[in-house]
Amino acid sequence: MESTRKQLIELLEKQEGYISGQQLSDSLQISRTAVWKHMNELKKDGYEIEAVQRKGYKIVSYPDKISTNTLQWGLDTKWMGQNLYHYDQVESTQQIVHEMAKQGMPHGTVVVADEQVRGKGRMARNWHSPKGKGIWMSILLRPNLPPIQAPQLTLMAATVLAKMISEESDLKPQIKWPNDLLVHHKKVSGILTEMQAEHDQIQYVVLGIGMNVNQDLSEIQQEISHKASSLKIESGSHWSIPKTIQSILRQFEITYDQYVKEGFQQVKKEWERYGYKIGEEVTISTMKKTWEATLIGIEPDGALKARDRSGNEEKLYSAEIHW
Ligand code: BTN
Repeated sequence: MESTRKQLIELLEKQEGYISGQQLSDSLQISRTAVWKHMNELKKDGYEIEAVQRKGYKIVSYPDKISTNTLQWGLDTKWMGQNLYHYDQVESTQQIVHEMAKQGMPHGTVVVADEQVRGKGRMARNWHSPKGKGIWMSILLRPNLPPIQAPQLTLMAATVLAKMISEESDLKPQIKWPNDLLVHHKKVSGILTEMQAEHDQIQYVVLGIGMNVNQDLSEIQQEISHKASSLKIESGSHWSIPKTIQSILRQFEITYDQYVKEGFQQVKKEWERYGYKIGEEVTISTMKKTWEATLIGIEPDGALKARDRSGNEEKLYSAEIHW
């Protein structure tokens, strides 16, 4: 039943226009009445489906409500998100995935929540994760890599988000090193990568993605509203959260598989293409100092390369770029 519905959505999605009831019944090997019953179930789940006589069916809009079903139906990935859990409210999806990793859950396990009450950001900051307004999701990865390559995964994830935003809208996203997603100079998304490693091998990585999707201007915390935004504010339209999650998972699988096969070179190229203020002068702060430097690009190990005003080049592993 579940898998029939999943296949049904995949068929509807693939078709440019309408797909006839007969075609669906042939492909799924079920009766026309069964097709019709499935359509009614999909409508109950929030799919808007148009049925036109002699033409067939077409998906008009996708459900907004997240559930394991609305996330998995139509998700045509091989491993990413095939093991997926949805919660209404959690402290942090990171914490749940850490526990799942210890229990032996597979590579590609995904946890999504409508709301986080203790969302974690980088540098021990809080990550505001209001109910139903964004994507609060953690992914379990089990890469066969040495720990030194973990930063590459974070940079790769940033390119995945940038590509997804470019493909789904007219927005021109940028990545502020290492992995903040900016649109019109404002942060719409961040990535938190946490790793468990032993000796020279990564045991697992929990890669958390926080994305502000449907907040209105009044819903952005006032103290950060000069530098934070949402996809809705910047694009002027509402985004379907389940559909956006699916696009991220699909793009993630493609990019990750390519990275494993071909190495970091392509990721580096993509990252620099979206890189914020690459070739420009910015203010950089580390624990020790704050200075002006020109951003040159990223190194194969994920470090940021910058040149100060005296021409000295430096590789940075931990720093804040002011914007
Ligand atoms: C950043 O500081 O920019 C990173 C933010 C990462 C937030 C995400 S939301 C899903 C996952 N769960 C958390 O508690 N944090 C990450």
